[in-house]
Amino acid sequence: MRKPLVIANWKMNFLHDEMIDYVDQLVEKTKDINQVEIGIAAQDIYLKELSDKTKNTNIKVVAQNAHWEKFGSFTGETSPEALFDLGVDFVMLGHFERRQLFNETNSTVNKKVLTSLNIGLNVIVDVEEFEQVEPVLKGITKEQMEKVTLAFEPVYAIGTGNAASIEGAQGVARRIRAIIGDIYDLDTARKVRILYDGSVDTNNADDFISQKDIDGVLIGKAALNLESFLKLIEIAGKSR
Ligand code: PGA
Repeated sequence: MRKPLVIANWKMNFLHDEMIDYVDQLVEKTKDINQVEIGIAAQDIYLKELSDKTKNTNIKVVAQNAHWEKFGSFTGETSPEALFDLGVDFVMLGHFERRQLFNETNSTVNKKVLTSLNIGLNVIVDVEEFEQVEPVLKGITKEQMEKVTLAFEPVYAIGTGNAASIEGAQGVARRIRAIIGDIYDLDTARKVRILYDGSVDTNNADDFISQKDIDGVLIGKAALNLESFLKLIEIAGKSR
């Protein structure tokens, strides 16, 4: 049984005090929830505090990016090894905005996925279409797939308020699962979690999460408001 995963992608938002207020309340208000895994994808500068504050809770800390080398002369970049050392649970790689605004390609995303997995981080790999699945997973073993979650984010749906159709998103998720089955095997395909990402809100989340092949959602704008994120967590909890 794949546990639903609901991730707030904070992107480059929140001052320090706002972040503390949000996470303190989130920890308090979700302490009895264990049927849903909750994630917060935050700016690097907040990851250590988030990791400390969410210790022994059901909340996972997610980095929004990491480099493909463990260390080195890469000014302004983040070491995946340092993320792991800090207690970060997941790193998100290949997000639409990284691809669109920072020229990331399937090839760089693949290098990043390999390094982060080798270090021991869990990875959320974002793809805009099912054709990207094979190139971003190149060289990843069946055993490593246990630490991989895929997120499907159609380009027209990110930050636009124009979510994919429910049937369309389920269709792509099913296709992604079939590709995983072809690359690895049926068991791996059955276990891998696939998220939908793009203009998820409290009105459409239930429809997405209750689809057979969609195991959760990544949420941008609708998760910047804590009450709305809590509602989305509640919806995911009731979806299975
Ligand atoms: P959105 O952003 O929910 O505002 O579309 C999602 C994301 O970029 O991960």
